[in-house]
Amino acid sequence: MRLGAIDYLTKPFQKAELDAVIGQCVGTAKGESYAGEIEELCDDVFFVAASPAMKKIRSQAALVANVDIPVLLLGESGTGKEVLARLIHKLSPRAHRTFLKVNCAAVPADLLESELFGYEAGAFTGATHPKPGKFELCNKGTILLDEIGEMPPLLQAKLLHVLQDQQFSRLGSRTLVKVDVRILAATNINIPEALANKRLREDLYYRLNAFTMSLPPLRDRKEEIPILLKHFMSRMSESYARPPLPLSAPLMEACLRHSWPGNLRELSNFIKRYLVLGDETLAASELQPRPDGGGGMHTDAVDRSAGADSGGGLKSLSRNAKDEAEAEAISRALEETNWNRKQAAALLQISYKALLYKIRQYGIAQSRSTRRLSAGA
Ligand SMILES: Nc1ncnc2c1ncn2[C@@H]1O[C@H](COP(=O)(O)OP(=O)(O)OP(=O)(O)O)[C@@H](O)[C@H]1O
Ligand SMILES: [Mg+2]
Repeated sequence: MRLGAIDYLTKPFQKAELDAVIGQCVGTAKGESYAGEIEELCDDVFFVAASPAMKKIRSQAALVANVDIPVLLLGESGTGKEVLARLIHKLSPRAHRTFLKVNCAAVPADLLESELFGYEAGAFTGATHPKPGKFELCNKGTILLDEIGEMPPLLQAKLLHVLQDQQFSRLGSRTLVKVDVRILAATNINIPEALANKRLREDLYYRLNAFTMSLPPLRDRKEEIPILLKHFMSRMSESYARPPLPLSAPLMEACLRHSWPGNLRELSNFIKRYLVLGDETLAASELQPRPDGGGGMHTDAVDRSAGADSGGGLKSLSRNAKDEAEAEAISRALEETNWNRKQAAALLQISYKALLYKIRQYGIAQSRSTRRLSAGA
C-alpha cells in the first residue's frame, strides 16, 4: 500500500468484493467524479451516498459494523433500509459469512417462530424431520429482521432472549442452541405509537435501539437525485440490454421538483418505466402532481400509456380503471385506520401481505398530515 496500491483484498474474498475494488480503481483511473459515492455491495446491489446526510450514514455504518451490537434501521418505505443492512454486513468482520433477511410481515405469524428458531421432529403435526431455523443457518453471520413491528409480541419475547444470551431452543426441544448472530432490525412503523399500543415490546425496543440509524426520505436529500438517476439508468440499461436514454435538463428539473413519496424505489421504477416507454415526455408526465395532492406515480405508466387514447383498447382501459379504483380504496382504508395496515387489510378483506404489495405497486404514501396525526395519537 505504501508503494501506491489503491486497495487490497484478503483471501478468501467474494467476486462482488473484487468487482467493487476493480470498479473503484477504474473509476479512479478515469477521474470519475462519482467514484467513492457508489459502491457495489453484492451482485447488483449498490449503495449510493452523495449527500452530506448519506455520507454521514455511510461513515456511521463503517463504525458500527465493527462492533457486534444490534442496529435498528428506520426510514420510510423505499429509503434503503435493506441496502444499508447489507452495507453494515459487508463492512463488518462477518462480511464473508451469511447475510439473511427475514421479512416478519411476509411470514404468517404461526410459521415465523419455526422459521426463525427451527424445530425438532414431532414438534407439531407434519414436522417429520428436524429443521434448523434461520438463526442457526446464519451462525457467525448477520440476520436482518425486516418489518420487526409486525412480529407477534410472544415471539418478540423469545427474540429478546436471543439478544440477551445468544441462545434459544428449537420448537419441541428443551436443549439450548448457542448461536453467534449479528442482529439488525428494520421498520417503518411509528415507534411511539407501536410502543403505546404494545405492538412493539418496550424491552425489545430498548435492546434493539442500542444504535439507531434513520434514513432520510429522498425529498430531504434532493441533491442525490441526479447521481441516482444516472446510476439507475446505467445499471438498468445494462440489465435490459438497451442503450441508456438521455436525462435532459427539463426531465432532471421535473425529477428535482417531484416529492418522491416512494423514495428510491419509486425513482428506480421511474427509470425502469422510462426505459420501457422510451419517451421522455410520457415519462415526465408521470411526475406531475395529481389533483388529489398525492404527487406520485400512483398508476402504472406502462399500463396508462397503453390506454384508450393511445389505442390500447378496452382491455387496458378497464385494467387502468381497476387499478385506479383499487388505489383509491386502499388510500381511503389507510386514512380511515390511521395507516394501521393490519386494520386496513381487514377492512379491505385482503391479506396483509397483499396489502403491502399493493401499497408498493401503486406507490401509495402516507401524507404528512396523517403522519402527524398518527404520531400524536
Ligand atoms: N443508498 C442507496 N443506493 C442505491 N440504491 C438504493 C439506496 N437505497 C435504496 N436504494 C434502491 O431503492 C430500493 C429500495 O431500497 P430498500 O429495499 O433497501 O428500501 P427499504 O427502506 O427496505 O423499503 P421498505 O420499507 O419498503 O422495505 C432498492 O432496491 C435499491 O434499488
Ligand atoms: Mg425493506
